[in-house]
Amino acid sequence: MPIPLAILVALAAALSACERPPPATRGIPPAARESVRGWLAGATPGGLPTAARPARDRGFRALGAEVYRLRCVPCHGVNGNGKGIHASRLSVPARDFTKGVYAFRSTPSGTLPTDGDLFLTVSRGVHGTAMIPWSWLGENERWAVIEHVKSFSPRFREEGAGEPVAVPPAPAETSGLVALGAAAWTRNGCAKCHGETGEGDGPSAPTLRRDDGTPVRPLPFSAGRFLRGGALPDLWLTLATGLDGTPMPSYAAVPADELWALGAWVRARAGLPSAPGRAPAPDPEERLGWQIDIEGR
Ligand code: HEC
Ligand code: HEC
Repeated sequence: MPIPLAILVALAAALSACERPPPATRGIPPAARESVRGWLAGATPGGLPTAARPARDRGFRALGAEVYRLRCVPCHGVNGNGKGIHASRLSVPARDFTKGVYAFRSTPSGTLPTDGDLFLTVSRGVHGTAMIPWSWLGENERWAVIEHVKSFSPRFREEGAGEPVAVPPAPAETSGLVALGAAAWTRNGCAKCHGETGEGDGPSAPTLRRDDGTPVRPLPFSAGRFLRGGALPDLWLTLATGLDGTPMPSYAAVPADELWALGAWVRARAGLPSAPGRAPAPDPEERLGWQIDIEGR
């Protein structure tokens, strides 16, 4: 086996012991267990929607509230403030939705994510944290729960999502590009936080904190797993838009080509793409701070 860690995937099952959710949201299908197992082993679900988003009518809002109550409350809290009953066990804190600050966006630093960004995050999960992928929920359920998540922050009512940054076509990932990336790594001072070789041990690393004051350390790139996924375009977006709420800045002012080179360098540290079949190291347990119980109860 065994999965050395344990995140309780069966949150819903635990909850449904005392309440009766509608059948559409009860239990976790065996197929879902496969996808969570795969994610634990390093895979990232595709996560793109295949059908149009349903109309935002009353039924849609009720569904969103219900899915949230069943699946998200234990970590993100009834009021969306990140203080669910499991909050104290999580080493990476669950997002406080009342702040309206999101790390994984296609939009510029400081702006709100698009609904598509949120759909992707919810579907793909966040590697190295207790935020498992929810790609096994129906697309309607995912769109609906996102609407509920947005309702916790007035920002979404007051301002729209940012204008998505267009990701240019990716260049070929050659050793020349990686070499350019190595130079850009030094030039842009990435090592200050990430360390010379990207192991997360730069001189500033011990002092880094999220906006909420909790300490955060960059994951070692050699582990081969990335919060939002390690495909080159994922890394490009992380660099172009930053991870808001964390010390990882946006490098929007750096030319697009240089961002590709940096992405290629980061991937080379992770042994990608020359060894794509290489299994990433398992998520460090202390980083998850949570038990993954795939079989559920
Ligand atoms: C087992 C705990 C847990 C559960 C259950 C959970 N989350 Fe999360 N979630 C987290 C953690 C931890 C993070 C923070 C990840 C990070 O900081 O990198 C997070 C982050 C997020 C984010 C923020 C991503 C960003 O761009 O900043 C969204 C959106 C989100 N979760 C949605 C949901 C939804 C919707 C559900 C229910 C379907 C859910 N989560 C259930 C733990 C959980
Ligand atoms: C001020 C400190 C700081 C600097 C400078 C910095 N980073 Fe980061 N970076 C972070 C932190 C902290 C994280 C992890 C955030 C988290 O875990 O929520 C991170 C995460 C990342 C990730 C992982 C994204 C993912 O999806 O897992 C990549 C790639 C990355 N940084 C690349 C770079 C590059 C390239 C540079 C220089 C151009 C750079 N960083 C400069 C602090 C920094």
